[in-house]
Amino acid sequence: MFEALPESKPDTILALMQEFRDDPRTDKVDLGPGIYKDKHGNTPILAAVKQAEKKLLETQDTKAYVGPIGSRPFCDSILKQIFGTNADASRIRCAQSTGGTGALRIITDMLKETHPDAALWVSDPTWPNHALIFRAAGIETKPYPYYDAANSEVDFNGMMETLKNAKDKDIVLLHGCCHNPTGADLNLDQWKQVSDLCAQKSLFPFFDMAYQGFGDGLEEDAAAVRLFADALPEMAVAASCSKNLGLYRERTGAALLVAKHSADADRALGRLGVVIRSNYSMPPDHGANTTHLVMADEKLNALWREELEQMRQRMMRLRIAFAESMRKRTNSDRFDYIASQKGMFSRLPLNAEQIGTLREQHGIYMVGDGRINVAGLPEDDMDSLAEAIASVLQ
Ligand code: LMR
Repeated sequence: MFEALPESKPDTILALMQEFRDDPRTDKVDLGPGIYKDKHGNTPILAAVKQAEKKLLETQDTKAYVGPIGSRPFCDSILKQIFGTNADASRIRCAQSTGGTGALRIITDMLKETHPDAALWVSDPTWPNHALIFRAAGIETKPYPYYDAANSEVDFNGMMETLKNAKDKDIVLLHGCCHNPTGADLNLDQWKQVSDLCAQKSLFPFFDMAYQGFGDGLEEDAAAVRLFADALPEMAVAASCSKNLGLYRERTGAALLVAKHSADADRALGRLGVVIRSNYSMPPDHGANTTHLVMADEKLNALWREELEQMRQRMMRLRIAFAESMRKRTNSDRFDYIASQKGMFSRLPLNAEQIGTLREQHGIYMVGDGRINVAGLPEDDMDSLAEAIASVLQ
């Protein structure tokens, strides 16, 4: 019967990762998947994580089941990281998830019960996997304009005008910080306007927080989520530890639900537990346990924050250096926006043919929509990269 299955297209980002690995050229440049890289192109395990893992190995005395919701101490740490230490935790609940993707999926499965007829609005463009996750959960998605590519900035008017026409009680997916793939974020005033609109129309805000700490800083990047949590009765956040703790393959994340009050919050967490149990029963433990050890130990926590800050600052430096090189090469300010955008990604104004030429002739890999992973920019050879990009622009 398998012959009846439709052909599957590989995920564009993951296919690119494999293509890059298979490319024998030694001077290739990986600007593809959202994985942090150091100057040498490596993705080392953070020192704080390594130390926590060592401690875990020495002290862990059982591998008995934890439960569908996962580690309570991990969840408490993530809740504070996302909502701050002054948040009203009585109306927030957290379930450990299998990475940020797992959180997106289990929350959507639950929202299908609470919002059976709702559409889920996603920014255009967005992370390609969003569409797959939401379709698999049986929720209809609709796009809202987000990026004004001609001016390399958020199309805020387009976004608001479209969302004003959303049905009451629809769901809106928002990138809490470091928009993937554009790197263009809303400012606080704009966030406030979106939050007011959600309140007016009873729209349900659903935040994807995969890059906290990569934009303006760990606390700063949570500003929008915190603003919404204060202003609105209900919302959800899918959080990831893949990037800011570098735990990619450990699949560590959290699904956080904000409810009107404590009793509703308990009820919602209960449903999430049922969704988890019926999908994969329980989340993997290692990454969450490690994260908790990093968060709970004062020294490890300080070390992690320092390491995270170093990653953030390096990406900012790379943005500035790249924008400068492009300015020199193109004799224009066309790429200046890269320096002021946030997080791990920005989009280059290149078409499919130009992107193909860069890959084939120069070994430069980026996603097909022109998205680049800023952390992969070659620190010591920015001019060669700029030259190659400038050459395909002509
Ligand atoms: C990305 O956007 O490149 C990352 O989130 C990796 C992935 O899973 O797609």
